[in-house]
Amino acid sequence: TRKLIMDVDTGTDDAVALMFAALHPDLDLMGVTTVNGNVPLDNTTDNTLRVLDWIGCSGIPVHPGLSRPIVRTEFPSARHFVSDGADDPHGKALDIPAPSSRAQSQGGVEYLIETLRAAAEPVTLVAVGPLSNIAAAIALDPELTGRVDEIVIMGGGHATANVTASAEFNIWADPEATAMVLAAGFPKLTLVTLDATHRAGITRDACRELAGLGTPAGTAAARFVGRRIDAYSGAGHEGVAPVHDVVCAAYLVRPDVVGTSPLPVAVETAGAATLGRTVIDVRPDTSQPANAHVALDANAELLTELLIDTFARTS
Ligand code: BDR
Ligand code: CA
Repeated sequence: TRKLIMDVDTGTDDAVALMFAALHPDLDLMGVTTVNGNVPLDNTTDNTLRVLDWIGCSGIPVHPGLSRPIVRTEFPSARHFVSDGADDPHGKALDIPAPSSRAQSQGGVEYLIETLRAAAEPVTLVAVGPLSNIAAAIALDPELTGRVDEIVIMGGGHATANVTASAEFNIWADPEATAMVLAAGFPKLTLVTLDATHRAGITRDACRELAGLGTPAGTAAARFVGRRIDAYSGAGHEGVAPVHDVVCAAYLVRPDVVGTSPLPVAVETAGAATLGRTVIDVRPDTSQPANAHVALDANAELLTELLIDTFARTS
């Protein structure tokens, strides 16, 4: 089994990713850190606890991390476009019961540092929210990167954007943290972009199958993905929606769920119209060295199959 820590801003798609990582037999989810993102930190933490309780995994510790970006005091501007249905009419809480377990008193950044330092074997980091916690941890201990075999990040895009015309939300929400993570020297950095996640849409038919599993994870996934499909319909997508973050979790067990290429990636931290954009150098003759394995493509059928198999499980 592959040991991993997830950093999340739960969120409907984070919720599906968490359930996948907690239930898949080849993955050992050691702990979860939460970050300000889709909703404020208290809500991302509460939602994370809800999800783990709901599937009977409340033994996995949840550590609240940073409540704001690492340099800026706020997001670059008010978030005017919601891509994932988390800010829906139901408010900021996922519509599953309130948690009975509590978050750990140790903060997310401290947990990352302590756990990585103590790990006998390298650990995989899966970061599916703004990168504030990861940046803070490596700022405090730059040698942590050597304790990580791979960091898998949901963020950025080449031909696709969501929060602005240029940028994807996770990267835009903390561009300086992204720059720090890109420069940190992780042995392997995989970036699962919006280009890939938009090719891995989950359909209403798949939701019906998930609901039909009759398991807690199947029921919740059907509800969350259904909400995302509702939120996307009318925006040119009918009956299908991307569930961005779960693509990262699925990639851990089936790397072929995405198509990756080694490419140079930079992040725009100064541009006015382009703040938070990932600048992905796809020129065949570029002289820049590749610093990331960039996923620009994905296999929706395989992802759907993986979700159905994994959410049929109850432990
Ligand atoms: C990313 O931003 C968040 O809204 C989602 O949870 C996902 O991680 C997509 O841009
Ligand atoms: Ca997320």
